[in-house]
Amino acid sequence: MNVSFNFSDRHVFVFGGTTGINLGIAKAFARSGARVCVASRKQENVDTAVVALQEFGGDVLGVTADVRDFDAVGGALAEAYERFGPIDVLVSGAAGNFLAEANDLSSNAFKVVVDIDLNGTFHVMRQAFQYLTRPGASVINITAPQSIIPMRYQSHVCAAKAGVDQLTRVLAIEWGVEGVRVNAISPGPIAGTEGMRRLAPQEDGGDALVTGMVPLQRMGTPEDIAQLAMFLGSSGASYISGAIIPCDGGGATESIKSMVEAAARELPKRQK
Ligand code: COA
Ligand code: NAP
Repeated sequence: MNVSFNFSDRHVFVFGGTTGINLGIAKAFARSGARVCVASRKQENVDTAVVALQEFGGDVLGVTADVRDFDAVGGALAEAYERFGPIDVLVSGAAGNFLAEANDLSSNAFKVVVDIDLNGTFHVMRQAFQYLTRPGASVINITAPQSIIPMRYQSHVCAAKAGVDQLTRVLAIEWGVEGVRVNAISPGPIAGTEGMRRLAPQEDGGDALVTGMVPLQRMGTPEDIAQLAMFLGSSGASYISGAIIPCDGGGATESIKSMVEAAARELPKRQK
């Protein structure tokens, strides 16, 4: 059973919010009455997400912007501020991932993931601060178990997401005096997502492989993550800041690591 939240007339901005887990978060806030803005690179993803979010009946804005482009990120946030006013809840979750051994990464291949995941998060944070409701805003970064667990074929993501965790903690300190809370959610294996398709060797995104490894014996859903995001965005979490919170059925780190190990065994065969 899901907990009900009321975000009526609140402005919620989800960067990278047009597909997967982040769209699930945007939908949950829209269902709870928020005015929601989503942004990502691909116009078709933005358009599809806007149509899906409009089904909840509230005000929705979609903006096309690449998190690697500091000015474009600022433009997207400014547009949302002009339309909906100060941002009450900011979610930053754009990310890129693929399996590759460090020795198979070009300089640009390593850089592209750091640029999207880490520099992109900084761009969103740095540009959004001026538009946040102060005091009162809740900022939520989407990190991953790779931020604390070293995983084969994930050097770029491990490095980038570790940076996201530390950026979260530092901003919680620097922005706390302005009444802004900054936290991160670390999702476990979430069924049916692009992230799982990229990490798992199986066609089904590794659902069967992973399920038995999770202590709660099931894959997560975008709604599981959305429930935590809404709690962090609510007054119920008003004394929580600087926290990196796993939402992973009790054992994502172990299950994702095992899944990546399995994928690593498959990868050389797939590259031939
Ligand atoms: N193995 C090794 N290198 C790879 C690779 C792989 N599987 N996939 C891409 N690269 C390299 C490219 O060769 C390129 O390096 P080069 O310039 O030296 O040739 C570099 O990575 C950038 O690739 P490019 O396709 O130009 O980047 P992009 O900006 O168009 O896309 C990605 C970014 C690569 C991260 C792409 O996978 C993406 O857009 N991901 C978003 C969705 C996603 O990953 N979702 C899951 C989130 S957990
Ligand atoms: P996803 O569906 O691929 O979502 C990624 C989103 O980011 C998309 O909306 C994408 O839209 C956007 N994006 C990608 N590159 C961008 C860029 N350069 N600029 C702006 N937007 C960009 O992936 P997901 O699996 O749901 O993952 C969402 C988040 O959860 C990520 O932060 C990921 O690290 C984290 N996570 C996922 C899992 C999992 O099981 N899936 C587990 C742990 C953590 P465009 O393509 O239109 O840009």
